Amino acid sequence: MIVAIDGPAGAGKSTVARRLAERLDFRYLDTGAMYRALTWLAMNRGFPLDRADELARLAMEYPVTFDDRERVWIAGTDVTASIRQARIDRLVPVVAAHPAVREVMRERQRQLGADGNVVIEGRDIGTVVAPNAEVKVYLNADAGVRARRRQAERPDIGGDALVTDLRRRDERDAPRLRAAEDAVQIDTTSLQVEDVVDRIEHLVRERQPA
Ligand code: DC
Repeated sequence: MIVAIDGPAGAGKSTVARRLAERLDFRYLDTGAMYRALTWLAMNRGFPLDRADELARLAMEYPVTFDDRERVWIAGTDVTASIRQARIDRLVPVVAAHPAVREVMRERQRQLGADGNVVIEGRDIGTVVAPNAEVKVYLNADAGVRARRRQAERPDIGGDALVTDLRRRDERDAPRLRAAEDAVQIDTTSLQVEDVVDRIEHLVRERQPA
């Protein structure tokens, strides 16, 4: 079974998707980490981020992998910590906007999500990567709350800069961000993580074969 969790930055996707996967004993696939890792590699090698074909070739040549401790690897390097830096936050939407890059990434995401039970988190999972996912959830939250959540994850950045960054990312991610028609929408603004996980777990149990 595939559980697709989509939504904007700061809606709570990662925390919820991880907890849910733990609870259900499903695998967890963070597709945002894949775009982040490619962005890291491109920057590290001095690739201009506007060259879609070169970036797509780079993505093909260096597939992102996850080990069993959920560490993120690309080109033989553990980039788990490096991909969470503010400069990656700012540049990843530029890389993720190229259709040629997305095609390579989506194919790889389908392969990684192919076997068994998995929770896949991203922006276009329920709409494009796994349109047949048995459970689709679209998480959203008030922009102020999303910025505060991001601030807790990025204590090194000032509050104002974070609000501006989040607004820019929202604008850049907007063309790819859309709830699937059959997605269950959950507003997490005033919900606790465990409440959101409970709701999704309930949806999964309903659809799981007896
Ligand atoms: O969820 P995140 O913040 O780690 O995502 C990083 C970036 O990648 C974000 O700008 C949106 C983009 N992304 C995407 O376009 N499609 C996905 N399936 C996942 C992430």
